[in-house]
Amino acid sequence: MKVFPVKRLQGELKVPGDKSISHRALIISSLACGKCNISGFLPSEDCLHTLNCLRQMGVKINIYSPTDVDVVGVGLHGFQEPNSPLEAGNSGTTARLLLGLLAGQNFFSILTGDDSLSKRPMGRVVKPLQKMGANIWGRQNDSMLPLAVRGNKLQGITYDLPVASAQLKSALLLAGLLADSPTTLTEPSNSRDHTERMLRYFGVQLKKDNHTITIVPEQVIKARNIIVPGDFSSAAFFVVGALITPDSELIIRNVGVNPTRTGLLHVLQQMGAKISLFNKRMICGEPVADIHIVHSKLKGATVEGQIVPTLIDEIPALVIAALHADGETIIRDATELRVKETDRIAALVSELNKIGGLITELPDGLIIHGSQQLAGGSCESWHDHRIAMALAIAGLNVKDKISIKNSDCVAISYPNFFEDLASISITK
Ligand code: S3P
Repeated sequence: MKVFPVKRLQGELKVPGDKSISHRALIISSLACGKCNISGFLPSEDCLHTLNCLRQMGVKINIYSPTDVDVVGVGLHGFQEPNSPLEAGNSGTTARLLLGLLAGQNFFSILTGDDSLSKRPMGRVVKPLQKMGANIWGRQNDSMLPLAVRGNKLQGITYDLPVASAQLKSALLLAGLLADSPTTLTEPSNSRDHTERMLRYFGVQLKKDNHTITIVPEQVIKARNIIVPGDFSSAAFFVVGALITPDSELIIRNVGVNPTRTGLLHVLQQMGAKISLFNKRMICGEPVADIHIVHSKLKGATVEGQIVPTLIDEIPALVIAALHADGETIIRDATELRVKETDRIAALVSELNKIGGLITELPDGLIIHGSQQLAGGSCESWHDHRIAMALAIAGLNVKDKISIKNSDCVAISYPNFFEDLASISITK
């Protein structure tokens, strides 16, 4: 994909459904007793992997339109043994959440994924599940896909999570529902809390006290309909695009603004960004708003500590904003970026430096040297959707143009990204 500089970004748009919430809507509806409708569903490659895995386990899912699906829940114990391996593709959320579910089912299953996912750490989920009594085997001491699971009755545990990971927390909450005694989890800091919110919306009792959650097993999950808000992580690319492109003004409607996801807004506002939220409302237990953004002069910032998990997926977008800010931006405590769809620290340094950026790599983050006019040129997505979209946003303000290899990976989370970007681009 080639991206040419634009005069400005202008107009209104709606981004597609939230990826994290779409996965959870499918999984939690499957565990419910009866039919649930999901509207605003994200029909991206990652979520379709979850959908197909659930179908392989006998869950009936009707797709009325790409964003409108019905799931007929089978209850906690109504899944069937899949007769072929479950394919999670590129999706960490599919693999990790389903591991929690599979560990407590009365059947055998194999879970696999693509090259990228097969290199990502699964031991963080497997180890505590094994403590709960799960039978899970795989390469590298049971820590990498493909994994074989012989489901059985689990015991509840009390467990301190070594990382703030919503995928890990969610896998253990799902396993906790299937166990024979309560499970108590403590996170080092808050990761996204969509699973807790959705379980409560479906009538499940959870006790939450600061970073500690307790779930009691064998609760009935009532069938409910879910409306999925727009994905803040997708909106983030346009937020940054409008901030760094002179004369831009944008409204993004119907975006999920769960505080465990919107750390980027706080950092950008601290950097001088003119961003406001309006029409704030609650939809199915999640806060939603419209976002208004105008081009702003930005200054560098330091980003570290507990805010990092709340903006971890937005760091590729934040780095583009930082390249246009006055002064340095330092991002630390972000080692998790090294085990995402690709090593995002290495990818951002390599690709942005190729097109004229100046970024220094740290073991746990990056130093971005601001006030840069990027030259443009050829770069590569590393088959990572968020790297591809960050590079595209960088391309809006280069001197010449940029050409992004393997940009079709945007379909992992945002199949129409380039069309939507074109719809708000006013070209020179
Ligand atoms: C996700 C959690 C985060 C995030 C990922 C989606 C989820 O990962 O980076 O894109 O849907 O639970 P971790 O659980 O590894 O922090």
